[in-house]
Amino acid sequence: MVMVKNMKKKKHTLKKRYRRLILYIIIASIVITLTVHFVKVYKYHQTDEYKLLEKGYNANTVSNVISSLTKEDINTLLNKDKISNLNDIIKEKYFLERHLFDYIDYSDENKDKSLSDVIAIINVGANKPWYTDSTQTDESKKTAMLVNKFHLLSNNYDAGEIKNFSATYAYGSVRATKEVYDAFIKMANDAKKDNVTLVLSSGYREHDYQEKIYSDIVKKNGQEYADKYAAKPGSSEHETGLALDILSTGEGAFTNNFHKTNAYAWLQEHASEYGFILRYPEGKEYLTGYSPESWHYRYLGPELASKVKSEGITYDEYYAFYLE
Ligand code: DAL
Ligand code: ZN
Repeated sequence: MVMVKNMKKKKHTLKKRYRRLILYIIIASIVITLTVHFVKVYKYHQTDEYKLLEKGYNANTVSNVISSLTKEDINTLLNKDKISNLNDIIKEKYFLERHLFDYIDYSDENKDKSLSDVIAIINVGANKPWYTDSTQTDESKKTAMLVNKFHLLSNNYDAGEIKNFSATYAYGSVRATKEVYDAFIKMANDAKKDNVTLVLSSGYREHDYQEKIYSDIVKKNGQEYADKYAAKPGSSEHETGLALDILSTGEGAFTNNFHKTNAYAWLQEHASEYGFILRYPEGKEYLTGYSPESWHYRYLGPELASKVKSEGITYDEYYAFYLE
C-alpha cells in the first residue's frame, strides 16, 4: 500500500517537473522570438530603406535611390531635406551620379528649366560662365577629343599631317588633317552625284590665326559678341584640323544663307556617314556657347558621328555622358 502510494507520489512529482520544463521551454521560446523580432526591427531601422521612407520618399523612389546611388550619396541625401524631384532626376536619360547635388541645386534655383535641360547644362558645365574652370582636353582621344570653352587644347598642340584642298573643293586656301581631308573629298564627290556642291571656306587654323580672327571680332564688336561667333585661341576646333566650314555655290556661298540650301539639307542627311556632325545647331547655344553655325562641321569618324546623330544631342553633351 505504502509502495503504491510512493510510486504515485513519484509519478506526480515527475509530471510536475515535466510541466515546469515545458513551461520554461515555452517562456524561453517566447523570449528568443521576441528578441529576434526586436533585433530585426532595430536592424531595419538602421537601413537606408527605412531612413529614406521615414524622410517621406515613396517606395519607388527609395528603390531607385538604393539601386542607383552610392552609400555615400545616400548618406548625404539623408542629411538633407526631402528633394521633391529626386526620382525624376535619377530617371533622366543622361543622369550622371557625379553631378547629383549640382542637378538638385541648379533645378531648385532654375524652376523654369526642364529637367532634361538642367541635366544637359550641368553635364556640359554650362551653368558656369564660359571659359571658367576650363581644363586641358584629353588629346589622346584623337578624333573624338572635345574642344570647347571648357576643354582647351594644350599650348603648341600638334595637329599632325595637314593637307591642302585644291580649288575644286575650297574657296581660297583650306587645310585639314589627312583623315578629314580624305573624308571630305569622298563626301563632296558623292554629294556631286546627287547634284549637290560642297565647297569649303575654312579648315585647319594655326593658333596665331585663330587669335587674329578672335581679336579682330573683339575689336570690331566687343568681347560678348565675339564669344558667340568665334573661339578664343586654344579652344577652337579649327586648331585641331578636325573642323571644316562647309558652304556651297551661288547663294549658299554665304554663311547666312547656307541653312536654306539643298547642300545643307544633304549634309543633314548624309554628313554622319562620312564622319561629320553639325557642331553648333540652332537652339543649343546655351550648351555649345555659340550662335548656330549651319556651316561648321566636326569630324568624329563615321561610327561616332552616327552614334551622336542618332542620340540627337550636341557633341558637348554626348562627350560628357559617354566619353568623359
Ligand atoms: N566659329 C567657331 C566657333 C570657331 O571659331 O572655332
Ligand atoms: Zn568653323
